[in-house]
Amino acid sequence: MTVKDIFENMDYGSAPESAGDALAWITDQGARFGLFIDGEFTAPGDTFETTNPATGEVLADITQATTDDVAAAVAAARAAQPEWEAIGGPARARFLYALARLLQKHSRLFAVLETLDNGKPIREARDVDIALAHRHFYYHAGCAQLEETQAQGRVAQGVCGQIIPWNFPLLMLAWKVAPALAMGNTVVLKPAEWTSLTALLFADICRQAGLPKGVVNIVTGDGAVGEMIVTADVDKVAFTGSTEVGRKIRQATAGSGKSLTLELGGKSPYIVFEDADLDSAIEGLVDAIWFNGGQVCCAGSRLLVQEGIADRFYAKLRARMDKLRVGNPLDKSIDVGAIVHPEQLARIRAMVEASGGDMHQTAGVPEGCYYAPTLITDLSNADPLMQEEIFGPVLVATTFRTPSEAIEIANNTRYGLAATVWSENINVALDVAPKLAAGVVWVNGTNMFDAAAPFGGIRESGFGREGGPEGLWAYTKPAEKGPLVTEIAAFEGDSAEPQPVDRTAKHYIGGKQARPDGGYARNIYDASGALIGQSPIGNRKDIRNAVEAARGAKGWSAATAHNRAQVIYFLAENLSARAGELAKTIDRMTGQDTGADEVEVAVNRLFHYAAWSDKFAGDARAVPMRGLAMALREPVGVIGAIAPNEFPLLGLVSVMAPAIAMGNRTVIVASEAYPLITQDLTQILETSDVPAGAVNLITGPHAELAATLADHADVDALWSFGAAALAGDIERRAAGNLKRTWVNHGHGRDWFGPDGQSRNFLEEATEVKTVWVPYGA
Ligand code: NAI
Repeated sequence: MTVKDIFENMDYGSAPESAGDALAWITDQGARFGLFIDGEFTAPGDTFETTNPATGEVLADITQATTDDVAAAVAAARAAQPEWEAIGGPARARFLYALARLLQKHSRLFAVLETLDNGKPIREARDVDIALAHRHFYYHAGCAQLEETQAQGRVAQGVCGQIIPWNFPLLMLAWKVAPALAMGNTVVLKPAEWTSLTALLFADICRQAGLPKGVVNIVTGDGAVGEMIVTADVDKVAFTGSTEVGRKIRQATAGSGKSLTLELGGKSPYIVFEDADLDSAIEGLVDAIWFNGGQVCCAGSRLLVQEGIADRFYAKLRARMDKLRVGNPLDKSIDVGAIVHPEQLARIRAMVEASGGDMHQTAGVPEGCYYAPTLITDLSNADPLMQEEIFGPVLVATTFRTPSEAIEIANNTRYGLAATVWSENINVALDVAPKLAAGVVWVNGTNMFDAAAPFGGIRESGFGREGGPEGLWAYTKPAEKGPLVTEIAAFEGDSAEPQPVDRTAKHYIGGKQARPDGGYARNIYDASGALIGQSPIGNRKDIRNAVEAARGAKGWSAATAHNRAQVIYFLAENLSARAGELAKTIDRMTGQDTGADEVEVAVNRLFHYAAWSDKFAGDARAVPMRGLAMALREPVGVIGAIAPNEFPLLGLVSVMAPAIAMGNRTVIVASEAYPLITQDLTQILETSDVPAGAVNLITGPHAELAATLADHADVDALWSFGAAALAGDIERRAAGNLKRTWVNHGHGRDWFGPDGQSRNFLEEATEVKTVWVPYGA
């Protein structure tokens, strides 16, 4: 080929990266790897092969860890943890800086090894995966240095079990290991079975950095090893992977008291409005769905194009697809590499073959473990391909007419990880962004990530955030556990049988007093056994009605924070005006004389959260690129809560106030032992300006009502401050729609003190949405 030919056809030549150093490193290790436990590599045990998906060649043998191996790794992490935490943030920061620098120093080796093991283009491994991995270590070194300001009196979780997927092997390791270490935790990490090599090279780097033994332990193997970690003696489990496995882990850890974060799948919408810069939107789309062959949890895999430009946009897209180069991942001019494994290839094929729709595919794709970039148009929104995660280079597309239709289609999914909006009209883009149900929204750009900007999902995309202070939060816990709650039994009297409802015993649902569906009420007695009133016995139907009312009260979430603050101040004043009566009710129910104190603190608590209403809105993050990442605090949605049994008014108010201050709508089950407080509260709520449905109060048996709330698909989060036994059942049932849970595992709190209004309440009452917008030139 002559230079003239090249000028004429503008074809790229190949620019292969050498695999020599990476292959030499594997050979130096004997091409057989043991596990990294307590600062040493163990002798290889039973092994399985890891292969290069681009060629099918075997790269090395990897050990399948046993239960004893996992126990040894956890024991090493446990032994190392107290000292690692005790050396303090600045000392840990030195190690994290050392790890960051070593990653940078060996970045080419890491990049090539990643490409060999995973099949991703070397350009991506080099410029994205490895570059972001060391950025994570640098950022978190800084977090360790500033621990006192960052961790706000919290302490390390302890030993963290971390399970990661195969799509970004080293990067996911960095996302998990760096914040854990920064906050004084030790880790047992399992890479995915198809891609263990860079984690093992990282173990080598830990030795070079002089990291104390046992701080980082790497165990390899398949899902069975993941299960062993989940059930081992760890304090926290952090998982990234499929929603299906995430759900199993939620069930396996239910009731154990282990802290859990899940970063799961997605089907993220990529919305192109007719006034978008179409060429930019096309380039963005290449990145959104063909980056890493679409094997990306937040891939923009669902294209929504405004009808008027759809044909033009599809034509441009097809033309661009025809120029994509698919092939040898080590070639620096390749756009799309190999699929990670033949099994994943088979999964993609099976899903696409089952589809109808109009299909366009890039031509000239090599034989082997490759899949052609694919566009499928004309699918109905209910089509499985529009709803299910394909996890391959397959883009599905549909059209919309108006912004509100775009939002409706975008949100019509069980996932909520990411979303992209393209429009040159700032009003359209910034009007749509807050309405998208997603943890991350990119405006006129896509796939932007940074260690300072939290990443994570809502709905079945999981819970918890990685990156930024939010990510650190998940690797810390309150310094002290509250004392175990003592179970409180209601006082007994003459007749314990349920009574038909008289005229006073009602729930408070949708702003109205509502008779219990079952038609029964419980007699409530004072300490002397005298009847003091009746309280409705709520059932599933009552909960469902209350959830429906809460779902409908969208206006409360849309109200301004200033407005919410005023409403809560007014509520506090109304409560204060009836302090005497309330105190009397409390004292009669509890048989104690703390009612007046309880009312006073409850009034104060309302003032406290009224003040917070407009002060917990999030902030901007300094990301190293042209743009602004804003970590915004949004309401979670509908929060169900089981109020504590003790302190019937203060407990209920302490749960309700932060939830509504942050714009949530609530279904609160009052103290089971002392439920009569809802009658006074109902009257106060009715005369305040709290809109109908924002607060719903139900009384009845905690276990049954908590189960209904946990099962309910329209409840976004469930809190329990009730009996210890509720925690496990709630967490297990919550696996259904993967709702967030916050349960006490039997530990109470000092409701009268700062613990009764700790920052946890605001954290739990909000969801972080990270919005990336262009900013600055
Ligand atoms: P997976 O969720 O099974 O694997 C992720 C990690 O979890 C791996 O380390 C695996 O060994 C481990 N694991 C598997 N079963 C486990 C269990 N019961 N307990 C604990 N750990 C367990 O994902 P897989 O099978 O590799 O891919 C299947 C599908 O999942 C893909 O087609 C894709 O749709 C989705 N996926 C999503 C990812 C994401 O980042 N959202 C990442 C990987 C896969």
